[in-house]
Amino acid sequence: MPAQAFPEGFSWGTATAGHQVDGGTWNNDWWAWEHDPSSPCVEPSGDAIDHWNHWPQDLSLLAELGFGAYRFSLEWSRIEPEEGEFSAAALDHYRAMCVRCRELGLSPVVTFHHFTSPRWVARAGGWADPVTAERFARFCARAASELGDLMGAACTINEPNVVAFYGYRGGVFPPGERSSERRHQANHVFIEGHRRAVDAIRSAAPGVPVGLTLSMTDYQAVDGGEARVEHMREPMEDVFLHATDGDDFVGVQAYTRMLVGPDGPTAYPRGARTTLMGYEFWPEALEACLRRAWSVTGGHVPLLVTENGIGTPDDAERIEYVERALQGVLRALADGIDVRGYTYWSAFDNFEWAFGYRPTFGLVAVDRSTQERTTKPSASWLGQIAARNAL
Ligand code: BGC
Repeated sequence: MPAQAFPEGFSWGTATAGHQVDGGTWNNDWWAWEHDPSSPCVEPSGDAIDHWNHWPQDLSLLAELGFGAYRFSLEWSRIEPEEGEFSAAALDHYRAMCVRCRELGLSPVVTFHHFTSPRWVARAGGWADPVTAERFARFCARAASELGDLMGAACTINEPNVVAFYGYRGGVFPPGERSSERRHQANHVFIEGHRRAVDAIRSAAPGVPVGLTLSMTDYQAVDGGEARVEHMREPMEDVFLHATDGDDFVGVQAYTRMLVGPDGPTAYPRGARTTLMGYEFWPEALEACLRRAWSVTGGHVPLLVTENGIGTPDDAERIEYVERALQGVLRALADGIDVRGYTYWSAFDNFEWAFGYRPTFGLVAVDRSTQERTTKPSASWLGQIAARNAL
């Protein structure tokens, strides 16, 4: 086995999320937020990259490149546009996607909630209302019963820590609140929603691995910032990691590091490289976060990299970033950390939430005036690594 090889069965995938690629997802809280003049959103999602209609060619492209998994999300507002009203047409759409994934040799990794909630859920109280956990589990049960025979893995909630923080404390995501108390309440409801969703998906789709995906940051204490780091990690990461006990995997998503002093985050070192997101180019974050997830969960739950990538206009920089991140995965594996796969964010350039379309994370570029797809060199480079399962 070459030194740079990954374990047999290691999964290689790319990811998207419904609202960021599908287009026309007008019935959710994010669409409303993009059109709210008080939000910081720079532009609306509009037709996005019309993945809702272009998915057959998109899936073929990803399979041809060499990937073995495709992570995408179900848009709750399409499947349950009003409370208790389920759309057979929307469920058929996702079923057709899963069937085609299987035909192409792509394992469908299905996310049940990726940042967006139906307008009726937001109106009824959103994620600070405990009833939302029950409503979400009911949706999961229904969707999992339609897709259970096809899914390769199920992610309950994508980055609940980010939605709770930016939606209820930071004012950047809907509902745009700025309250610590509401943020903690939302954390609690998300955890409850995750636990109920795990049960619902397991009973509707027995045998499908189920887990949560968490946004993690390589927090580094500087100038005596250790206590502050602990204080920040608890509500951002640890409370969620502790809620994954008994799950089939923990989805680790990492992009950068954060330097933290006694009073909070500090500036990056002078001259630090930054990405289109404004944060530091720091590919070693992935290894640090894998190690931390493994230690906080006591090594009881396998890890899956469900997102890692870079928003950059320079594709050679993307290759450098991913290569360094993958070297970190190899070091973690060599130390006995059970990492089951790597998923690049994102398959396509897409709608980067409040930042709009400017940050380009994709392996594939999209001209949104023609919806034409163009693979970047990084797509073929990573696809070849996937196909030979080695760096
Ligand atoms: C999210 C994605 C987002 C990506 C890049 C993650 O926080 O799950 O939706 O596009 O990071 O910022």
